[in-house]
Amino acid sequence: NGRESTNIVWHKCSVEKIDRQELLQQKGCVIWITGLSGSGKSTVACALTGALHARGKLTYILDGDNVRHGLNRDLTFKSEDRAENIRRVGLYISISKLYHFFFFFFFFFFFFFFFFFFFSIYHTYSHDSIGEVAKLFSDAGVICIASVISPYRKDRDTCRSILPDGDFIEVFMDIPLCVCEARDPKGLYKLARAGKIKGFTGIDDPYEAPLNSEIVLRQEGEVCPPPDIMAEKVISYLEANG
Ligand code: PPS
Repeated sequence: NGRESTNIVWHKCSVEKIDRQELLQQKGCVIWITGLSGSGKSTVACALTGALHARGKLTYILDGDNVRHGLNRDLTFKSEDRAENIRRVGLYISISKLYHFFFFFFFFFFFFFFFFFFFSIYHTYSHDSIGEVAKLFSDAGVICIASVISPYRKDRDTCRSILPDGDFIEVFMDIPLCVCEARDPKGLYKLARAGKIKGFTGIDDPYEAPLNSEIVLRQEGEVCPPPDIMAEKVISYLEANG
């Protein structure tokens, strides 16, 4: 877009992600909670962060509503802005993708070529994630809980693709639209039905449900399990997967 900085070089420090993870005694990852407005994403994110914190784990929540108050306040709910919203949130931990390249080149090239390609790719990718957001969270070893509608499958898959295998854990809040609409905690569905909000997810803008989420949280019959029970389900998955 002609607005990228030039003449900048990635500055590497001796303390790396692996060192921070050792210090924190945890593995940095992204728990991506997706679902309709009113499905309980933020509530489960809070319950989850509380439960992990109580176990001595360092977490940070990136909530769609909150991020849109600051970092992403320039973005609307048009599809291209939603994609940009997700891209910015998803880039928090993108630098760790470099491990893919590390292993690939290690096995297929001599050391000279390995270093040459590794550093050129490192340079390219580091430019993608060098913004304020990446400085704060990428590579920090934090368990990052993103609770964003993220209605389009392609955008969620892009976030998954920039992380090492296993580090993107998608949690689908599979709560029917009629339930979310009946809850309507902010009165937004009412406004959307009245035509006062255009492009509202689930009403006149699509929500593409995940096909292969690591975790699906859903109602049991007519009843929705309490948030702490849902959070425990996520924690069981984390424990079972190292
Ligand atoms: S997205 O689609 O992932 O970019 O949305 P997100 O950043 O998660 O922000 C969703 C919150 O914005 C409010 N809101 C809307 N949601 C959906 N569609 C439209 N048109 C819209 N306008 C405002 C709403 O409060 C969402 O919060 P949650 O917590 O999901 O209800």
